[in-house]
Amino acid sequence: MRLHSLDIFKQYEKHQWQLRDLDFTAIRHDLIKPEYITLVRSAVIGESNVVAATHGLLNEFMEGEYDVPTFAIIWGWQEVQHHFAFKSWLHAVDPDFDVDEKVIRAMREPYPDGSTRAATLATNVASELMVNRVYRGISRWVEEPVLKDIFLRASRDESGHAREFLYFLRKRLETHPEEMASVLETLYVYVSPGDIQHPVSVFKSGLDALSDSETIDTGFDMFMAQVAGDGEIKEIHNNIRRVFSEVTGFDLSTNAKIRRALAECTG
Ligand SMILES: [Fe+2]
Ligand SMILES: [Fe+2]
Repeated sequence: MRLHSLDIFKQYEKHQWQLRDLDFTAIRHDLIKPEYITLVRSAVIGESNVVAATHGLLNEFMEGEYDVPTFAIIWGWQEVQHHFAFKSWLHAVDPDFDVDEKVIRAMREPYPDGSTRAATLATNVASELMVNRVYRGISRWVEEPVLKDIFLRASRDESGHAREFLYFLRKRLETHPEEMASVLETLYVYVSPGDIQHPVSVFKSGLDALSDSETIDTGFDMFMAQVAGDGEIKEIHNNIRRVFSEVTGFDLSTNAKIRRALAECTG
């Protein structure tokens, strides 16, 4: 059996950056704005969801699957690295800025199974594409060079993750075309509102432990208010629509077209 995860593993081994590549002694404290702290705390919390997400993927792809779970572990390692990179930056700026452990622990519960395996893969494609763009935008905006570099490195990784989840989504749809409607529904959830919807916000925003802490939404709100230029959210959504159009074979460039494609699948 040819494993795509083995190809990814080899590729990551060759190109993967290391936490030790980051020089936290080079942080330019004079260039740090208070907004950065909020953004990074939000990123630390967002990235900590990897444990719940990996657990969810391992549960959901338990039977009859080896390639996706293996990839989930490789992917999870990189997301843990993001979590540690952001956390280390915060800690280097001021240990008091670090995120309270009880907030991180509150994220631990595994994600529930998606409506279908294709829907779960589609959710991951959408969220990776979203975070790729958000991190890239933040990287351009941030002036502190060490943090700028972390956002850029993470952004590139998220783009790779989107590509890999897309590979598995495409394969899943080839063998399970009946899951197409669930993929269109997933797209609709993430692109139909006017702002950014991320699965972490959809599933974990209401947790009590987060009530007096930043959440991933705090970061997205700040991104929208401070970083995103006119039309950036639309561009993020359009990019997701393009990718989904390509993988499903439907034109999904407007919400009406998504609904039409859904009617075609279910009708
Ligand atoms: Fe990440
Ligand atoms: Fe990612």
